[in-house]
Amino acid sequence: MEENRIALVTEAGNGLGGMFADLLLEHNYKVILAAAKKSYQSLAKQCEEVEDCKVIEVDFTSNESLCRLKHVLYSYYGKLDLLLNNAEVVNGFGQKINQLVLEDVKYQFDVNFFAVLKLVQMTKPLLEKSNNPKIINVTSGLGDINKMKDKTFCYSDYSLTAYATSKAALNMYTVLQAREFKPTKISIHSFDPVVRKYCTYNSVILGEDVRNAFMELIV
Ligand SMILES: NC(=O)c1ccc[n+]([C@@H]2O[C@H](COP(=O)([O-])OP(=O)(O)OC[C@H]3O[C@@H](n4cnc5c(N)ncnc54)[C@H](OP(=O)(O)O)[C@@H]3O)[C@@H](O)[C@H]2O)c1
Repeated sequence: MEENRIALVTEAGNGLGGMFADLLLEHNYKVILAAAKKSYQSLAKQCEEVEDCKVIEVDFTSNESLCRLKHVLYSYYGKLDLLLNNAEVVNGFGQKINQLVLEDVKYQFDVNFFAVLKLVQMTKPLLEKSNNPKIINVTSGLGDINKMKDKTFCYSDYSLTAYATSKAALNMYTVLQAREFKPTKISIHSFDPVVRKYCTYNSVILGEDVRNAFMELIV
Protein backbone atom coordinates (compact mmCIF):
# COMPACT_ATOMS: atom_id res chain seq x y z
CA MET A 1 0.00 0.00 0.00
CA GLU A 2 1.14 3.54 -0.77
CA GLU A 3 2.88 5.19 2.19
CA ASN A 4 1.07 8.16 3.78
CA ARG A 5 2.43 11.51 2.78
CA ILE A 6 2.89 14.03 5.57
CA ALA A 7 1.45 17.55 5.42
CA LEU A 8 1.87 20.43 7.84
CA VAL A 9 -1.06 22.88 7.70
CA THR A 10 -0.67 26.14 9.58
CA GLU A 11 -3.98 26.74 11.28
CA ALA A 12 -7.12 24.96 10.41
CA GLY A 13 -9.37 26.06 13.22
CA ASN A 14 -11.29 28.43 11.03
CA GLY A 15 -12.68 28.46 7.56
CA LEU A 16 -10.51 27.40 4.70
CA GLY A 17 -7.67 25.69 6.56
CA GLY A 18 -10.12 23.08 7.83
CA MET A 19 -11.39 22.41 4.32
CA PHE A 20 -7.83 22.03 3.00
CA ALA A 21 -6.95 19.68 5.88
CA ASP A 22 -10.03 17.52 5.16
CA LEU A 23 -9.08 17.24 1.49
CA LEU A 24 -5.56 16.19 2.47
CA LEU A 25 -6.89 13.54 4.88
CA GLU A 26 -9.14 12.21 2.10
CA HIS A 27 -6.08 11.90 -0.16
CA ASN A 28 -3.80 9.75 1.93
CA TYR A 29 -1.95 12.43 3.85
CA LYS A 30 -1.13 12.37 7.52
CA VAL A 31 -2.01 15.90 8.54
CA ILE A 32 -0.27 17.91 11.25
CA LEU A 33 -2.29 20.96 12.19
CA ALA A 34 -0.33 23.77 13.79
CA ALA A 35 -2.81 25.95 15.66
CA ALA A 36 -2.98 28.47 18.47
CA LYS A 37 -5.12 29.14 21.51
CA LYS A 38 -8.88 28.44 21.14
CA SER A 39 -8.39 26.93 17.68
CA TYR A 40 -5.81 24.57 19.14
CA GLN A 41 -8.21 23.45 21.86
CA SER A 42 -11.15 22.84 19.55
CA LEU A 43 -9.01 21.13 16.90
CA ALA A 44 -7.34 18.92 19.48
CA LYS A 45 -10.82 17.68 20.49
CA GLN A 46 -11.97 17.17 16.89
CA CYS A 47 -8.79 15.31 15.94
CA GLU A 48 -8.89 12.84 18.82
CA GLU A 49 -11.05 10.60 16.66
CA VAL A 50 -9.10 11.02 13.42
CA GLU A 51 -6.30 8.53 13.01
CA ASP A 52 -4.08 10.46 10.61
CA CYS A 53 -4.47 13.85 12.24
CA LYS A 54 -2.24 15.44 14.89
CA VAL A 55 -2.59 18.92 16.38
CA ILE A 56 0.36 20.91 17.72
CA GLU A 57 0.01 24.17 19.60
CA VAL A 58 2.01 26.87 17.83
CA ASP A 59 2.08 30.65 17.94
CA PHE A 60 3.67 31.73 14.68
CA THR A 61 4.91 34.97 16.19
CA SER A 62 6.97 33.17 18.82
CA ASN A 63 10.42 31.78 17.98
CA GLU A 64 10.25 29.56 21.03
CA SER A 65 6.94 28.09 19.88
CA LEU A 66 8.32 27.55 16.36
CA CYS A 67 11.35 25.77 17.87
CA ARG A 68 9.03 23.39 19.69
CA LEU A 69 7.23 22.68 16.41
CA LYS A 70 10.60 22.03 14.77
CA HIS A 71 11.52 19.58 17.50
CA VAL A 72 8.28 17.61 17.01
CA LEU A 73 8.64 17.55 13.24
CA TYR A 74 12.24 16.38 13.30
CA SER A 75 11.92 13.85 16.10
CA TYR A 76 8.54 12.27 15.27
CA TYR A 77 8.19 12.62 11.51
CA GLY A 78 11.65 13.02 9.96
CA LYS A 79 10.30 14.14 6.58
CA LEU A 80 7.62 16.38 5.12
CA ASP A 81 5.80 16.15 1.78
CA LEU A 82 3.72 19.30 1.97
CA LEU A 83 3.91 22.60 3.85
CA LEU A 84 0.64 24.50 3.58
CA ASN A 85 1.03 28.05 4.84
CA ASN A 86 -2.56 29.04 5.55
CA ALA A 87 -2.56 31.01 8.84
CA GLU A 88 -3.35 34.68 8.59
CA VAL A 89 -4.24 37.78 10.50
CA VAL A 90 -6.52 40.27 8.83
CA ASN A 91 -7.65 43.54 10.35
CA GLY A 92 -7.60 47.28 9.85
CA PHE A 93 -10.48 47.40 7.39
CA GLY A 94 -11.08 50.91 6.06
CA GLN A 95 -8.17 52.42 7.96
CA LYS A 96 -6.60 55.49 6.44
CA ILE A 97 -2.93 56.39 6.85
CA ASN A 98 -3.56 58.42 10.02
CA GLN A 99 -5.31 55.46 11.64
CA LEU A 100 -2.64 52.87 10.98
CA VAL A 101 -0.91 51.56 14.08
CA LEU A 102 2.54 50.39 13.13
CA GLU A 103 2.56 47.63 15.74
CA ASP A 104 -0.60 46.12 14.16
CA VAL A 105 0.98 46.26 10.74
CA LYS A 106 4.12 44.55 12.04
CA TYR A 107 2.02 41.88 13.74
CA GLN A 108 0.23 41.08 10.48
CA PHE A 109 3.55 40.87 8.66
CA ASP A 110 4.81 38.56 11.42
CA VAL A 111 2.01 36.03 10.86
CA ASN A 112 1.30 36.49 7.14
CA PHE A 113 4.86 36.84 5.88
CA PHE A 114 7.76 36.37 8.33
CA ALA A 115 6.30 33.16 9.78
CA VAL A 116 6.22 31.72 6.25
CA LEU A 117 9.91 32.53 5.71
CA LYS A 118 10.77 30.93 9.05
CA LEU A 119 8.70 27.83 8.30
CA VAL A 120 10.29 27.35 4.89
CA GLN A 121 13.78 27.66 6.41
CA MET A 122 12.83 25.31 9.19
CA THR A 123 11.21 22.58 7.08
CA LYS A 124 13.46 22.64 3.99
CA PRO A 125 15.70 19.76 5.20
CA LEU A 126 12.55 17.68 5.90
CA LEU A 127 11.01 18.52 2.53
CA GLU A 128 14.23 17.46 0.82
CA LYS A 129 13.62 13.95 2.15
CA SER A 130 10.34 13.65 0.22
CA ASN A 131 10.14 12.36 -3.37
CA ASN A 132 7.80 15.14 -4.42
CA PRO A 133 7.92 17.96 -1.87
CA LYS A 134 5.60 20.92 -2.15
CA ILE A 135 4.99 24.22 -0.46
CA ILE A 136 1.68 26.01 -0.93
CA ASN A 137 1.40 29.61 0.24
CA VAL A 138 -2.24 30.58 0.62
CA THR A 139 -2.59 34.08 -0.67
CA SER A 140 -5.31 36.55 -1.55
CA GLY A 141 -6.35 38.68 -4.47
CA LEU A 142 -5.83 41.62 -2.13
CA GLY A 143 -2.10 41.03 -2.47
CA ASP A 144 -2.26 40.96 -6.28
CA ILE A 145 -1.33 44.42 -7.54
CA ASN A 146 -2.94 43.96 -10.97
CA LYS A 147 -6.23 42.71 -9.52
CA MET A 148 -6.34 45.54 -6.99
CA LYS A 149 -5.97 48.08 -9.83
CA ASP A 150 -8.93 46.48 -11.62
CA LYS A 151 -12.13 48.24 -10.48
CA THR A 152 -14.21 45.19 -11.41
CA PHE A 153 -12.36 43.01 -8.90
CA CYS A 154 -14.68 42.60 -5.93
CA TYR A 155 -12.07 43.44 -3.30
CA SER A 156 -10.50 46.35 -5.19
CA ASP A 157 -12.02 48.99 -2.91
CA TYR A 158 -10.83 47.28 0.29
CA SER A 159 -8.12 49.27 2.03
CA LEU A 160 -6.69 46.56 4.25
CA THR A 161 -3.22 48.06 4.08
CA ALA A 162 -1.35 45.66 6.38
CA TYR A 163 -3.05 42.51 5.10
CA ALA A 164 -2.78 43.41 1.42
CA THR A 165 0.87 44.48 1.59
CA SER A 166 1.84 41.39 3.61
CA LYS A 167 0.15 39.15 1.00
CA ALA A 168 1.86 41.10 -1.83
CA ALA A 169 5.20 40.46 -0.09
CA LEU A 170 4.28 36.78 0.20
CA ASN A 171 3.48 36.64 -3.52
CA MET A 172 6.84 38.15 -4.47
CA TYR A 173 8.63 35.86 -2.07
CA THR A 174 6.94 32.83 -3.68
CA VAL A 175 8.11 33.92 -7.15
CA LEU A 176 11.69 34.39 -5.96
CA GLN A 177 11.71 31.18 -3.95
CA ALA A 178 10.32 29.21 -6.93
CA ARG A 179 13.31 30.41 -8.95
CA GLU A 180 15.74 29.31 -6.26
CA PHE A 181 14.04 25.91 -5.92
CA LYS A 182 13.80 25.29 -9.67
CA PRO A 183 16.83 22.97 -9.86
CA THR A 184 15.63 21.03 -6.77
CA LYS A 185 12.72 18.63 -6.14
CA ILE A 186 10.81 21.24 -4.13
CA SER A 187 8.00 23.11 -5.84
CA ILE A 188 6.41 26.19 -4.31
CA HIS A 189 3.04 27.66 -5.29
CA SER A 190 0.82 30.62 -4.49
CA PHE A 191 -2.78 29.54 -4.02
CA ASP A 192 -5.61 32.05 -3.98
CA PRO A 193 -8.66 30.27 -2.55
CA VAL A 194 -11.10 32.85 -3.87
CA VAL A 195 -11.71 33.22 -7.56
CA ARG A 196 -13.79 36.10 -8.73
CA LYS A 197 -17.03 34.28 -9.22
CA TYR A 198 -16.90 32.98 -5.64
CA CYS A 199 -15.89 36.30 -4.22
CA THR A 200 -18.63 36.91 -1.73
CA TYR A 201 -17.35 39.61 0.60
CA ASN A 202 -16.18 37.88 3.75
CA SER A 203 -18.04 34.64 3.28
CA VAL A 204 -16.11 32.12 1.32
CA ILE A 205 -17.08 28.78 -0.07
CA LEU A 206 -14.56 26.48 -1.64
CA GLY A 207 -15.89 26.61 -5.19
CA GLU A 208 -15.64 23.55 -7.43
CA ASP A 209 -12.84 25.03 -9.56
CA VAL A 210 -10.87 26.18 -6.50
CA ARG A 211 -11.24 22.74 -4.99
CA ASN A 212 -10.08 21.14 -8.25
CA ALA A 213 -7.10 23.50 -8.50
CA PHE A 214 -6.13 22.61 -4.93
CA MET A 215 -6.47 18.88 -5.69
CA GLU A 216 -4.20 19.24 -8.70
CA LEU A 217 -1.53 20.63 -6.40
CA ILE A 218 -1.80 17.94 -3.74
CA VAL A 219 -2.18 14.68 -5.69
N1 LIG B 1 -11.61 33.97 3.84
C1 LIG B 1 -11.38 34.71 2.77
O1 LIG B 1 -12.23 35.45 2.30
C2 LIG B 1 -10.04 34.62 2.07
C3 LIG B 1 -9.89 35.21 0.82
C4 LIG B 1 -8.66 35.12 0.18
C5 LIG B 1 -7.61 34.47 0.80
N2 LIG B 1 -7.78 33.91 2.02
C6 LIG B 1 -6.62 33.25 2.64
O2 LIG B 1 -6.97 31.93 3.04
C7 LIG B 1 -6.28 31.58 4.25
C8 LIG B 1 -7.29 31.13 5.28
O3 LIG B 1 -8.26 32.15 5.41
P1 LIG B 1 -9.45 32.04 6.45
O4 LIG B 1 -10.43 33.09 6.11
O5 LIG B 1 -9.89 30.61 6.54
O6 LIG B 1 -8.65 32.46 7.76
P2 LIG B 1 -9.16 32.63 9.23
O7 LIG B 1 -10.53 32.07 9.39
O8 LIG B 1 -8.90 34.04 9.66
O9 LIG B 1 -8.12 31.69 9.97
C9 LIG B 1 -6.76 32.05 10.09
C10 LIG B 1 -6.21 31.37 11.30
O10 LIG B 1 -4.83 31.79 11.54
C11 LIG B 1 -4.66 31.82 12.92
N3 LIG B 1 -3.59 32.65 13.44
C12 LIG B 1 -3.53 33.99 13.45
N4 LIG B 1 -2.44 34.42 14.12
C13 LIG B 1 -1.80 33.30 14.56
C14 LIG B 1 -0.62 33.08 15.32
N5 LIG B 1 0.13 34.09 15.79
N6 LIG B 1 -0.25 31.82 15.59
C15 LIG B 1 -1.01 30.79 15.17
N7 LIG B 1 -2.14 30.94 14.44
C16 LIG B 1 -2.53 32.17 14.15
C17 LIG B 1 -5.99 32.32 13.46
O11 LIG B 1 -6.10 31.87 14.79
P3 LIG B 1 -7.17 32.53 15.80
O12 LIG B 1 -8.48 31.92 15.45
O13 LIG B 1 -6.66 32.11 17.13
O14 LIG B 1 -7.09 34.00 15.57
C18 LIG B 1 -7.01 31.71 12.55
O15 LIG B 1 -7.57 30.51 13.07
C19 LIG B 1 -5.51 32.83 4.68
O16 LIG B 1 -4.14 32.71 4.31
C20 LIG B 1 -6.18 33.96 3.91
O17 LIG B 1 -5.30 35.02 3.65
C21 LIG B 1 -8.97 33.97 2.67
